[in-house]
Amino acid sequence: MDRKVTVVGAGNVGATTAQRLAEKDLCDVVLIDIVEGVPQGKALDLTEAAPIEKHDAKLTGVNSYEATEGSNIVIITAGVPRKPGMSRDDLIGTNAGIVKGVTQQVVKYSPQCILIVVSNPLDAMCHVAFETSGFPKNRVIGMAGVLDSARFRAFIAMELDVSVENTHAFVLGGHGDTMVPLPRYSTVAGIPITELMTQDRIDALVDRTRNGGAEIVKFLTTSAYYAPASAVVEMAESILKDKKKILPCAVYLQGEYGFNDLFMGVPVKLGAKGVEEIIEIKLTDEEKKALQHSADAVQSLKDALKSLKY
Ligand code: APR
Repeated sequence: MDRKVTVVGAGNVGATTAQRLAEKDLCDVVLIDIVEGVPQGKALDLTEAAPIEKHDAKLTGVNSYEATEGSNIVIITAGVPRKPGMSRDDLIGTNAGIVKGVTQQVVKYSPQCILIVVSNPLDAMCHVAFETSGFPKNRVIGMAGVLDSARFRAFIAMELDVSVENTHAFVLGGHGDTMVPLPRYSTVAGIPITELMTQDRIDALVDRTRNGGAEIVKFLTTSAYYAPASAVVEMAESILKDKKKILPCAVYLQGEYGFNDLFMGVPVKLGAKGVEEIIEIKLTDEEKKALQHSADAVQSLKDALKSLKY
């Protein structure tokens, strides 16, 4: 295939992402990890599933970066996941060093790639990848909003007993407890959910969305990976096929929504060039306040990065 995507980290999120990319026949996939044998074994296992799944994507598992050369997209999932009782922010000390080291290697071999960051705490890890890579802002994107919105959509569909395909949702802000689900812009067949549910039920779904990651960590004792992989693959597909989908992603803001020098989740147009447009939607005073609160949380993580020796 003439499209190549590298997935860094062959753990739960990385391997599931590789599987979904290949099974959608989107690109060849290079899976890379520091642990010897794991990316090789998973890539081979997925290759042996290909005749049944009916795709021709080539999957390669490696421990060094030569094979990643010339990737169109590099997805960074390397790092440690949460354990019960941990917040995403608790991972910053370990994952900042990992994301920095990975980014240095990635840019050596794929200087023109688009970077999609998945490692947590997401918004802070986007800053690390952005600063380390020196890439323009349209080529460093964080995966969070698509996942958070998918969770919100799943809960809306469950609540109203309707097809998930009829649902749309927007979740803005940082990828943490301060994220900002927007019920006014969340719809079923075009009808805002504010017309379809009581405020109490909306509040309950918003709350469940905010804690969606933690709900799964409690069950699995590690973090989620099926929905995160689906979310990052939707972003990659929009870029690889130049679909220009409007998706909520963490991007570098320079004045948009009143924020500067900060990665945060907002609606963007994703196409072949990466972030092709940041879409500014009108927010109510209350929504603005919630977004400011979320931005403050992201800013304090960004400040924490400065004091870390990573
Ligand atoms: N280079 C490459 N791979 C690395 C490196 C590195 N420097 N450091 C760690 N890894 C690998 C690990 O060996 C492991 O295989 O990253 C993988 C992480 O996999 P899991 O432990 O299964 O974690 P996962 O659930 O996939 O989450 C990864 O994504 O959603 C976020 O919060 C999550 O930060 C976490 C990341």
